[in-house]
Amino acid sequence: MLSMNTNTNTIVDWKAYAQKYDMLLAYNPFYQETHQEVINKISDWNMAEGDLIADVGAGTGNYSVEVARLFPQARILHIDNDEGMIARASEKAAELKNFQILDKPIGEVQFAEESLQGLLCINAIYTFPNPKAELKKMYRWLAPGAQIVLVDAGRIMNLRAWTLALAWSMLRKHGLRTTLKVLKEAKAVSQQNAYIRENQQNGTFWTHSHEQFCEAVLEAGFLIENASVCFRGDCDLVIARKP
Ligand SMILES: C[S@@+](CC[C@H](N)C(=O)[O-])C[C@H]1O[C@@H](n2cnc3c(N)ncnc32)[C@H](O)[C@@H]1O
Repeated sequence: MLSMNTNTNTIVDWKAYAQKYDMLLAYNPFYQETHQEVINKISDWNMAEGDLIADVGAGTGNYSVEVARLFPQARILHIDNDEGMIARASEKAAELKNFQILDKPIGEVQFAEESLQGLLCINAIYTFPNPKAELKKMYRWLAPGAQIVLVDAGRIMNLRAWTLALAWSMLRKHGLRTTLKVLKEAKAVSQQNAYIRENQQNGTFWTHSHEQFCEAVLEAGFLIENASVCFRGDCDLVIARKP
């Protein structure tokens, strides 16, 4: 999928990003930390036979595949509309019987009201054309009492600061040779992050403060149970429940 801004022609090529996306899980300690925190929260969910969990903007399946393994009795719906991301997720989920891909843009996804028992949306809402409307839709889809886990990049990324922070952390953990190799290989990721930054700057992607994000979640109807910032302050992590 290409996300295009009609003013400047800035494009985020999710397909190109998908080729190297999983380097984040392998090497980025900030991505790893949030991933672990989210998976820990989700592992507390009680799921019955046949319950439905949706991962919206699920990418290469770093979350959805793990959630499918956590709850073999439930059905995991991996929602994304980028062929590169979906191809990676399909490979990873090949052996999973409870994993289903919905290859659709979020704007076209429909579920019956109150039909989902769990929902997650990790670093995808800010890229959607109508983020607040999608939050309201997610609220309608969830069953009363069910939880949603949200992570969203709200602040404009400082790419230089990110590169320095990553290089420093990798140097300490993996040494110079691996750090240089990974940084070279991660060029595709940096390029897409530069496009994401441009889309944030020109208003195509939603930017928000932590407070604004929490307000949007409350406005959609959810009760917030836990809210914090992550990814070096650039993202918001919110655990909320439908009353
Ligand atoms: C930054 S990635 C996050 C992937 C995954 N949630 C993770 O954290 O590893 C954003 C994902 O949102 C997907 N996406 C962007 N716009 C979308 C839309 N309108 N409908 C569905 N998915 C979309 C992209 O294809 C991409 O896989």
